[in-house]
Amino acid sequence: MKNWGEEIWNEKTKDHSDVGVILGTGYSVKKMNANTDKVVNTIATDFIKTLPENSKILDIGVGPAARFAIAFCSRKYNVTGVDISNEVLIRAKKNIDERKITNCLLEKHDLVEMKGHQNFDGAYCLETFFHIPAHLCLQSMKNVHDSLKPNAFFLVQFAVQDKMTLGFLAYNLFYMSVYTFISPILKILFNRKSFYTHVSRYSTQEIEDICKRSEFKIINRYNDYFLLQSNS
Ligand SMILES: C[S@@+](CC[C@H](N)C(=O)[O-])C[C@H]1O[C@@H](n2cnc3c(N)ncnc32)[C@H](O)[C@@H]1O
Repeated sequence: MKNWGEEIWNEKTKDHSDVGVILGTGYSVKKMNANTDKVVNTIATDFIKTLPENSKILDIGVGPAARFAIAFCSRKYNVTGVDISNEVLIRAKKNIDERKITNCLLEKHDLVEMKGHQNFDGAYCLETFFHIPAHLCLQSMKNVHDSLKPNAFFLVQFAVQDKMTLGFLAYNLFYMSVYTFISPILKILFNRKSFYTHVSRYSTQEIEDICKRSEFKIINRYNDYFLLQSNS
């Protein structure tokens, strides 16, 4: 069986810049760097406080820029970055090597099938978990749980959707229209491909249920980022 999404992420990475793969086309490097700073310096501070010295951290969906792996390695943590896509891992390695970082391992894993061995002091999954199809979400959470030492912390970003607002419906109508009608034109004019990457959205109540079922306790929440602690 082919892994979910692997082909799309490989194709997308061959065709797009790091920012295009991470945040989507239309975003700038400046915007991506601002997002990295915001996550590392504000959202992840409680998570960082839980990490023992020289921790081993798992970065799930490390991405082509390996931006969070680089930030955590620079703070002297040992990061293992996993990703479903070989193309992403090649780009991530280049970015890591360019910064002369030596405490980052890269491994190819599909989160849905990843086997955990309770050997990580912490894990994070940013801009990635919502790309896992909803019916595979519990198995994926269990795989993270099995990768962590008892009581370790997991910082994860969900796509939260508590209400179907008019703004959300209008945005999706616009997005899908652009995708359907404009992307073939862009392909003809500029040979630019576009890729639809699935997003699984959950209500707060569903997220609470997902965490409970996969044996995580919600410790804190910052908009769509959740700090979880694994039950021993
Ligand atoms: C939007 S990018 C975010 C990358 C990185 N976390 C960041 O914020 O810069 C999503 C990444 O998750 C990876 N990915 C998607 N599905 C995955 C899966 N099932 N298992 C592991 N990695 C996956 C993709 O290849 C891609 O590199």
